[in-house]
Amino acid sequence: MPNLVIVGAQWGDEGKGKIIDMLSEDVDAVVRFQGGNNAGHTVVVKGKKNILHLIPCGILHEGKTCIIGNGVVIDPKALLHEIAELQAGNVEVGENLKISALAPVTFPFHRALDKAKETKLGKEKIDTTHRGIGPTYTDKYGRIGIRIVDLLDENRLRQRLEQNLSEKNYLFENYFSLPAFKIEELLVEYLEFGKQLKPFITDTAFLINQLLAAGKKVLFEGAQGTFLDVDFGTYPFVTASHPIAGGVSIGTGVGPTRIDRVLGIVKAYTTRVGAGPLPTEWEGGGEELRKRGSEFGATTGRPRRCGWFDAIGVRRAQMLNGFDQMALTKLDVLSGIPKLKLCVGYKIDNEIIKDFPVTIDELEKIAPVYEEMDGWEEDIKQIKKFEDLPENAKKYINRIETLVGAKVAVISIGEDRTQTIILEDLFEN
Ligand code: GDP
Ligand code: IMO
Ligand code: MG
Repeated sequence: MPNLVIVGAQWGDEGKGKIIDMLSEDVDAVVRFQGGNNAGHTVVVKGKKNILHLIPCGILHEGKTCIIGNGVVIDPKALLHEIAELQAGNVEVGENLKISALAPVTFPFHRALDKAKETKLGKEKIDTTHRGIGPTYTDKYGRIGIRIVDLLDENRLRQRLEQNLSEKNYLFENYFSLPAFKIEELLVEYLEFGKQLKPFITDTAFLINQLLAAGKKVLFEGAQGTFLDVDFGTYPFVTASHPIAGGVSIGTGVGPTRIDRVLGIVKAYTTRVGAGPLPTEWEGGGEELRKRGSEFGATTGRPRRCGWFDAIGVRRAQMLNGFDQMALTKLDVLSGIPKLKLCVGYKIDNEIIKDFPVTIDELEKIAPVYEEMDGWEEDIKQIKKFEDLPENAKKYINRIETLVGAKVAVISIGEDRTQTIILEDLFEN
């Protein structure tokens, strides 16, 4: 089994970083395929917290090729900062990092647009990370995007900036009442970024396909989560990319027939950062659960909204991503809660439904239908074997498997690499 896709099965922050880091040891390459530096993937190694935003988590392991695919939007300033920070911590970033020539570039005007649009939306805002992600993807699909390879060609970059800013500066000055951007300043700054990034730029689609053809093990690192998908998420409260497994093909140039397996990363409860429906949210946003799980955004530090496990949602994620296996994370956070609830149905206008609805109106009306289970008292953070888990924890895991229709292959019981129980080899047939 040479390759594996890792996807978030909820609203992001499921603990993908930890699982990817753990699996990276066994692979040759780790590839990001969508999103940008809106992502914050935490990897804790011997007590030291590393947060990765654009660079694949595999970078913390020596000798792994880390690839940023064409589906990722790249803010060069943020990327260079991340490279410098890693290098300052003695992590090697050189030949092992490859970035796609075709990836769209995020400029300061994208970040400014992101913020300005949110301000205009007022109470209706999406609560984005303000990293310019939406506007960068908008330009890509509007066919006026500027790609990484354009940073290597002064004439082309100037022409693309002129094309971009003629419209955007009009908007900034006349619609948003903000200052215009100056082409000359951007040109100098971004040509310099291009120079610094040049050694990393390549045809990543070719590279990844070559690795696969040579039988190398490749891990595809999803960012965000299924319900932030621009098509299948809780639209319009979503990100602008495709975090679902289907995003791998278009975000890397690897055909669907070359993708072997998908692992859904599932938090043992539910969190969401930003606005939009969250059917199982505890009253008041779940402060108690937030404290227990230290649920604060890894990118923005914003408090995450928290609630019970939503089996209807995760079953939908299982279908959309086609995963048969799950990594169940943060199970330790539930220790000491006497009664645990699992959402097994949605009540909308007095009718009980068992499937995730598709419209925002329905999603906003959901009253969750819960099943209750007894919790466990014990601290489980140091347990090494499934058999040694408290009986009620085992029952909770088994019930999730039944409700979702996928096996729990990995259980995560702490933030450290070592606090993991592996039940199935993910690379075996
Ligand atoms: P990602 O975006 O999916 O990579 O997740 P984040 O890194 O944004 O958030 C997950 C948080 O939970 C991080 O602070 C991790 O260190 C932490 N974490 C991951 N797995 C576990 C776990 O099993 N137990 C506990 N207590 N913390 C975990
Ligand atoms: P990782 O990879 C959780 C959310 C934002 C906002 C919405 C749109 O760490 O799981 P954007 O800036 O993307 O336009 O914001 O998406 N969001 C995330 N939430 N985890 C993430 O990434 C997220 N990336 C974006 O909070 O609600
Ligand atoms: Mg995160």
